[in-house]
Amino acid sequence: MVSCQQVPPTRTLLQLLRDDLGLTATKEGCNEGDCGACTVVLAEKRGDHLHYAAVNSCIRLAHSVRGMALWTAQDLATADGTPHPVQQALLDNHASQCGFCTPGFAMSLFGLYQNQVCQGQSVSREQATEALSGNLCRCTGYRPILDAAQQMQTLPMAPVDETETLSKLELLAHTQQGLEADFSYKTPGTLAELLQLRAAHPQAQIVAGCTDVGLWVNKLHKDFAQVLDLTRVTELRQISSDATHLSIGAAVTLTDAFAALEATRPALHAFAMRFAGAPVRNSGTLGGNVANGSPIGDSMPLLIALNATVVLASLRGSREMALASLYTGYRKNVIAPDEVLTHIIVPQPEPDEFLRVYKVSKRLEDDISAVCLAVQLHLLNGKVAQASIGVGGVAATPVRAHQTEAALSGQPWNAATVDAAMATLRAEFQPISDMRASSDYRRQVLGNLLQRLWRESQGEADTSLASLLVEDLYA
Ligand SMILES: Cc1cc2nc3c(=O)[nH]c(=O)nc-3n(C[C@H](O)[C@H](O)[C@H](O)COP(=O)(O)OP(=O)(O)OC[C@H]3O[C@@H](n4cnc5c(N)ncnc54)[C@H](O)[C@@H]3O)c2cc1C
Ligand code: FES
Ligand code: FES
Repeated sequence: MVSCQQVPPTRTLLQLLRDDLGLTATKEGCNEGDCGACTVVLAEKRGDHLHYAAVNSCIRLAHSVRGMALWTAQDLATADGTPHPVQQALLDNHASQCGFCTPGFAMSLFGLYQNQVCQGQSVSREQATEALSGNLCRCTGYRPILDAAQQMQTLPMAPVDETETLSKLELLAHTQQGLEADFSYKTPGTLAELLQLRAAHPQAQIVAGCTDVGLWVNKLHKDFAQVLDLTRVTELRQISSDATHLSIGAAVTLTDAFAALEATRPALHAFAMRFAGAPVRNSGTLGGNVANGSPIGDSMPLLIALNATVVLASLRGSREMALASLYTGYRKNVIAPDEVLTHIIVPQPEPDEFLRVYKVSKRLEDDISAVCLAVQLHLLNGKVAQASIGVGGVAATPVRAHQTEAALSGQPWNAATVDAAMATLRAEFQPISDMRASSDYRRQVLGNLLQRLWRESQGEADTSLASLLVEDLYA
């Protein structure tokens, strides 16, 4: 067990590990969540077991891991130096050259090993690729690393002693909190506690997974005197569903939120895998994505197309609104200083739903959208009974394509209707040109995506470059 005193609220976990504790096996590369060199594995109790998550320590605040179990690459080998199966497999497959990325790869594989191999489940090449989606290697090439991921499951098992770890976590839960008293960093456990703190300290910086805020700290050198961490609020971590709706707590990680969405809409898996890389999805939350309100955020076009609503709460009460109404301008929203976003509520699919969501970005994995288009159609007797369309990357906020929805609704579902809707969609927004794409490209590609949706609705296979690349990767 490690106890640290006087840790400033914006100290990152990577700074704590390397600079304060001298644990230098964890590397610093980009310092912005992009390369995976700093990956560590966190575990917390879920039910009777531990749940493991590989995360980027460079954009995670040190205080956020209080009371959790943490492993770095330094913790894998046994005391006598016997390598962990993950390390042995990397060695056997010559999966490391300069070695700078290797501790990060080892940790992503360790998380996969604990969550899957130690639970008696095999690891497919596709699953290994997904687990390693946040780790960059510039010299070895990924084939030997993926080979190692396959081999690790054939070596003699070396699971974590969960009983021992769980009893240590139990002990930790009862230890005194240092900074809690003076409110530099607060981690309320209940919604009531959170709302009281929010009302009393509206200037405190709210932080969830910190995958946006971590960049403001590292790259914009922002410092916050008070941080209000939402990730321990029980109500905000819950997912519930009934016949009509799925309710996702704002502090549910992107990994868990997408899993819940995929349970009733399995086709969303491919899109979920295009959102950042696994370590970012393991830390980042759905509420953080929605509240941050980036015009190129990926969950919002989808949630707008699904007619999702959001719940905002304060001591004054709560209010529910359509997601698109949350935004008032570039990164501006209607969340009052004493309010927090508590839930995202998504209608369950109806049998006639035809849903597609397309992300266009320069890289397949771990990249930000140039354009994102989500379309939900209800097709009845050859007609579009209802169209609902969310778009990202074309305006100052994520937006609903009202004009295109009107061009489709009530029309026969045929090539002429699609041609007209493509023209409307291309004309509906005036996107900017930036380093990701030009305005013309964004407009052109939006129409093309609608054409692709039409063809897919007619049973044409998805032959886009992106999907071919995905198949290639898993071959
Ligand atoms: C390498 C990398 C890749 C990324 N790729 C993508 C991508 O592909 N697509 C994409 O959309 N995003 C991407 N992101 C951005 C980021 O991961 C997401 O926006 C994520 O969902 C943010 O969630 P968080 O919990 O980390 O938010 P935080 O960073 O903790 O918070 C973000 C903002 O939301 C506020 N906030 C958080 N929760 C609440 C709440 N409940 N109520 C009120 N305010 C709240 C915070 O105060 C802060 O202003 C990427 C980030 C990185 C570092
Ligand atoms: S140092 Fe690159 S992801 Fe953290
Ligand atoms: S071995 Fe050099 S970056 Fe991966």
